[in-house]
Amino acid sequence: MTLLIAILFLSSPLSCQQQSEKSWQEQRLKLVEHLEEKGITDAAVLDAMRTVPRHRFVPALQRSSAYADHPLPIGHGQTISQPFIVAFMSQALKLTGDEKVLEIGTGSGYHAAVLSLLCDQVYTIEIVPELGRSAKKLIAEMGYENIEVKIGDGYQGWIKHAPFDAIILTAAPKKIPQPLIDQLNLGGRLLAPVGEGWQELVLLEKTEERLKETNLLPVVFVPMTGEAEKMK
Ligand SMILES: C[S@@+](CC[C@H](N)C(=O)[O-])C[C@H]1O[C@@H](n2cnc3c(N)ncnc32)[C@H](O)[C@@H]1O
Repeated sequence: MTLLIAILFLSSPLSCQQQSEKSWQEQRLKLVEHLEEKGITDAAVLDAMRTVPRHRFVPALQRSSAYADHPLPIGHGQTISQPFIVAFMSQALKLTGDEKVLEIGTGSGYHAAVLSLLCDQVYTIEIVPELGRSAKKLIAEMGYENIEVKIGDGYQGWIKHAPFDAIILTAAPKKIPQPLIDQLNLGGRLLAPVGEGWQELVLLEKTEERLKETNLLPVVFVPMTGEAEKMK
């Protein structure tokens, strides 16, 4: 009898949990194929998108759409960004693995998790305390040790850890806040959606001589709140 139970146990199919992990992984691989078709070519970015379980960063009600290529609500009127945009922005930062990156707009923590696989250290700031707290908890639970989350207004950057090799804004200001430009290292890259309604995704490259500005893509992000709202 014991032998029979042991044989049944050993030959039993995958547990429900293993099955659903397998299905999430299949969905994630399909999403990454789609990202490649849409022009994402950076192997490290594609690998990070294959690795980070987006479904863990999405509220339970939205989970079945976790691997569709669109933004999803995460509560408090905020969203987790579209996977293509996460991949596109991560690729545009041209990270090599050694960088210190500042993200303004932690949201769910998903983009920070992707970036954490592409650089040395991620600092991320979230203005909505509830979102900041739950992202912090999830990031700790999932074992991302090179991400530090702060709750507050990202307008002034994070002077304690500046300068940064890359800065990314995932909420749109009318203009790029000067403190963030000041906290960008020489040779660094800053990416921000800029404007109201439809925005331009702007890339700033800082060199000794100048600040080069390039418009990369029309995008729609939630507006940057806090001090940025007072900008003219
Ligand atoms: C599009 S969501 C971010 C998506 C996020 N990166 C993710 O992976 O889920 C933009 C986030 O920026 C936050 N935000 C808006 N203004 C901010 C500010 N001044 N400082 C910090 N975070 C801000 C919003 O609360 C929101 O969570």
